[in-house]
Amino acid sequence: MKKIFFSLFLFLMCTQGNATLENTTCKRCHPIIYNEYQNSMHAKASIFKDPVHKAVWDKHPAKAKGNYKCAKCHTPSDHKLIKGETSLTKNRIQMTEPISCQACHSIESIEKHTKINKNKFTKKKKYFFSADSKRKGEKITFKEKHSFFGLMTKTSGSPYHDIDYSNENFYDGGMCLGCHDHKQNGKGFSVCDMQIKKEDSLDNKDTCISCHMPKVKGTFVNLKNTHTHTFHGISIHTINTSLLAKHIKLSLQKTTDGFEIRIENKANHTLFAQPLRLNQLRVSIEREGKTLSLKRKNFIRVIGKDGKPAMPWLADSELKNTLIKAHEIRHVKYTNLLHKGDTVVIDFGYYLVNPKAAKKLGITDKSVTKFIVLAKKRISI
Ligand code: HEC
Ligand code: HEC
Ligand code: HEC
Ligand code: HEC
Ligand code: HEC
Repeated sequence: MKKIFFSLFLFLMCTQGNATLENTTCKRCHPIIYNEYQNSMHAKASIFKDPVHKAVWDKHPAKAKGNYKCAKCHTPSDHKLIKGETSLTKNRIQMTEPISCQACHSIESIEKHTKINKNKFTKKKKYFFSADSKRKGEKITFKEKHSFFGLMTKTSGSPYHDIDYSNENFYDGGMCLGCHDHKQNGKGFSVCDMQIKKEDSLDNKDTCISCHMPKVKGTFVNLKNTHTHTFHGISIHTINTSLLAKHIKLSLQKTTDGFEIRIENKANHTLFAQPLRLNQLRVSIEREGKTLSLKRKNFIRVIGKDGKPAMPWLADSELKNTLIKAHEIRHVKYTNLLHKGDTVVIDFGYYLVNPKAAKKLGITDKSVTKFIVLAKKRISI
């Protein structure tokens, strides 16, 4: 009986036509991933859900012309907007799935350009790319054998869509780089550049996907139990930082005139390259019941014009850049002598929006202007 109902359900779904596939379609069979995705920044990348993106867009000169060119990366799923058939309006796609399941899973290749890269999507319907090392290279088409008026349906793979396991971009993280690699403004000045280092050493096999979308508990599809699935809740706004903290190694080394803190960035990209962020190191010494806070150290990139900080669309030069690069080990020196019995407390973290920039942009939302600790360490001397 159950089988018959399931077949009917499939039959109905297969006759719905090939319009844009919305996330609610995927939810039926991939509920865990669907739920996780709701908290991701990819679900909130539009001006209607991200107050920071909105604040910058509100000041952007293109707004007056109604030219929302941010759509290519921030809301690629709003197809009518992308095609220029509608203007930017608060619709369901903007509100719930600006970068949808289909948008990511149909990225076939990335076209490299100086200004911004471009995602090339497959034109095939219900055709998704994925990665599975055991099935690498396979293309599994949804096979249906109808009999008995379509009520008895046999399927293999997914009963809804084809799966292509042969796209290298889904193994090495290349599929993220249509949107995440770099961005230049109208003047050809680089506003944001992750300066991604192609993997050079064998012992560092981590990719964008393995670090930001690690395997976590729970099945990826409710038609079978796979025990784990790929984490889809990517966000630095809401995530518990523990997922990524392990990729930042903090250590302390005594020197003749004090000590130094070493920060090792295991990521293959510059840390906090987005120009609004402020990355900071806070060190304090606990001694005999008192806490001595040392001078805070900022890692920041300031962009500007005529020697003064400027908005991204006006900037034509780099005024300062102390960001920590891919695989870099940064040494920060302190001239405080440490005593036996001291405890050194190290907090390495960031502000989503540099408090100075927040003021300029009129952003008052406390959640984006508070200090977030990414990696923490207590060292007893
Ligand atoms: C009717 C159920 C059903 C629906 C609806 C469905 N899927 Fe699937 N999907 C499956 C099944 C079953 C598998 C596992 C196939 C296998 O392992 O052979 C799967 C596998 C996948 C995979 C590959 C998993 C892997 O092995 O790496 C991706 C990616 C995927 N689905 C994406 C989607 C997206 C995106 C949507 C919505 C547009 C969607 N699916 C809708 C049933 C469904
Ligand atoms: C090439 C793709 C691309 C284009 C085009 C693009 N962005 Fe972005 N934007 C991104 C990515 C990727 C991020 C996330 C970067 C990060 O966190 O390192 C981002 C993040 C941001 C953020 C920070 C958001 C936050 O919550 O902290 C702002 C603000 C922003 N973009 C504004 C804009 C505006 C305004 C436009 C259009 C004028 C635009 N972007 C066009 C890719 C793009
Ligand atoms: C930002 C891009 C992106 C978005 C958005 C996205 N995915 Fe994925 N998805 C990936 C990548 C990358 C993988 C990893 C491939 C791998 O290693 O299995 C993946 C893996 C999967 C898998 C495979 C198996 C597993 O282990 O979990 C399924 C199923 C899946 N996604 C479904 C979905 C659904 C459903 C949605 C929407 C709710 C969605 N994806 C949204 C990029 C994305
Ligand atoms: C279609 C474009 C697109 C693709 C593909 C994409 N992203 Fe994003 N991603 C964005 C945008 C835009 C944002 C910023 C949203 C915002 O803050 O408003 C973002 C945000 C993020 C963030 C959080 C940063 C923040 O501001 O919270 C991380 C981490 C991230 N993406 C990683 C990835 C990874 C890893 C992949 C590949 C598996 C990927 N993205 C694929 C466009 C994309
Ligand atoms: C070794 C693990 C690792 C790898 C590989 C990695 N990242 Fe990251 N990524 C991190 C860490 C750690 C941070 C900083 C913590 C955070 O943002 O929460 C970060 C931050 C980010 C952010 C947010 C930065 C910001 O300013 O908003 C984005 C976006 C991002 N990574 C995208 C990517 C992309 C795209 C790739 C592939 C080229 C990638 N990451 C590869 C560990 C990694």
